[in-house]
Amino acid sequence: METITNIAYLIASILFILGLRGLNSPKTARLGNLLAAIGMFIAIVVTLFDKEIIDFTYIIAGVVIGSAAGAIWARWVPMTAMPQTVAIFNGFGGGASALVGIAEFFRMTAPPTMDVSITLVLGLLVGTITFTGSLVAFSKLQGLLKGAPMVFPFQQTLNLILLAITLVIGVLFVLGTPTLDKVVLIFLIGSVLGVLVVIPIGGADMPVVISLLNSYSGVAAAMTGFVLSNNVLIISGALVGASGLILTNLMCKAMNRNLRNVLFGRVGVEVGKELAVAEKRRVTSHTPEDAVMMLEMASSVIIVPGYGLAVAQAQHILHELAMQLMKRGINVRYAIHPVAGRMPGHMNVLLAEANVPYDMLYEMDAINEDFQRTDVALVVGANDVINPAARNKKGSPLYGMPILNVDRAKTVIVCKRSLRPGFSGEDNEIFYLEKTMMVFGDAKETLTKMVGLLKEL
Ligand code: TAP
Repeated sequence: METITNIAYLIASILFILGLRGLNSPKTARLGNLLAAIGMFIAIVVTLFDKEIIDFTYIIAGVVIGSAAGAIWARWVPMTAMPQTVAIFNGFGGGASALVGIAEFFRMTAPPTMDVSITLVLGLLVGTITFTGSLVAFSKLQGLLKGAPMVFPFQQTLNLILLAITLVIGVLFVLGTPTLDKVVLIFLIGSVLGVLVVIPIGGADMPVVISLLNSYSGVAAAMTGFVLSNNVLIISGALVGASGLILTNLMCKAMNRNLRNVLFGRVGVEVGKELAVAEKRRVTSHTPEDAVMMLEMASSVIIVPGYGLAVAQAQHILHELAMQLMKRGINVRYAIHPVAGRMPGHMNVLLAEANVPYDMLYEMDAINEDFQRTDVALVVGANDVINPAARNKKGSPLYGMPILNVDRAKTVIVCKRSLRPGFSGEDNEIFYLEKTMMVFGDAKETLTKMVGLLKEL
């Protein structure tokens, strides 16, 4: 039986790795997801049959309730609320690992070996930090807590003291007597630390933190895997831990931040807070008719989608517009900024929903040089990812972030509702350029009018 179990775990682990590999490209992402889900199914079924479970009642109840809650949640949560959904799911993962660790402690009849006690302590600590930290991240993004950094004097010193106390308790647990009061203390301090670590981080940096917490949830699961001697949990936890860390690093690079700066820099900006639209300047407001005329005359168009596309749910009509232009022999491409939207891959998911062919999507580095040879850059609900303040305005929250070179196109058409800034709160010079045509209004309404006009022509 043990051999069969190990072979099944090995197959599950290979499927996880293939699944992760599939997520490398939008073309293979669905298949990747499916492979990983099959792997997880195999792992769960084999685990349930392998261990001598006396009573399945609670397990079945848990599976039914958990699956129903997950399915309903996944079905009803809007795309715009995906970051906080991911946050809370990470939290559940960390919390579950911590609870399993505690349950194992209660099951132990003899003092645990050193490797088990070390991983038990670490799993408990990382799991609780992940749980409460993710709850705070969820609350900030959901607007239940203030999005702005919450800071107080000696905050980091307090964090360090708490961490040091936990480590001392952990060492006493491992080398001395493994008692319940130590488990409870680690659980409580870990919970407080999770809150304290996340509250000073501001809205704009939240996704980086969520990705980091995701990585932590993997580490906690791997530790619990060691406690349970369960290979598949160790491997899947390690994969989540490592991939979460890689994603965190990629996001930091795309936002030109380093992780230390995100965690201790306190420079995040409150979600939706308007900071820098100090002066009222002239912009030229245009109609959808003007925009259509300009587009019709172009031979090359680069579409730049942003968060507003997701808010307006205008991805389908945008694709229709692109097809109308392509019918006229215009070269149409999409430029995807790595942090456009509110979560990694947000624009890819959105455009895939509208069946935009993958070969029309270009990553920032692959297309940025082409803007200067492009007739029209059509910006739909994007703002920060095209903001030149990132290049030249020291002190701006965007400074140093790589951006799409939209301002180098011959003409820029911007579809948004107002002159309000984007996520960073930074005003955007592009709106005031002579070559820019601002078409104000909800993106879906504007694009619907434009497609209607193109169809009539
Ligand atoms: P933003 O800079 O947030 O700008 C989005 C724009 O969409 C807003 O200026 C808004 O202007 C417009 N908009 C909103 N609803 C609209 C609607 N119904 N119709 C038309 N326009 C609408 O978006 P971005 O350029 O995609 O940049 C993303 C920002 O989020 C970056 O600062 C990034 O660092 C940050 N961020 C990214 C991530 C990831 S991982 N992607 C995670 C967290 C934060 P109006 O209100 O005037 O319409």
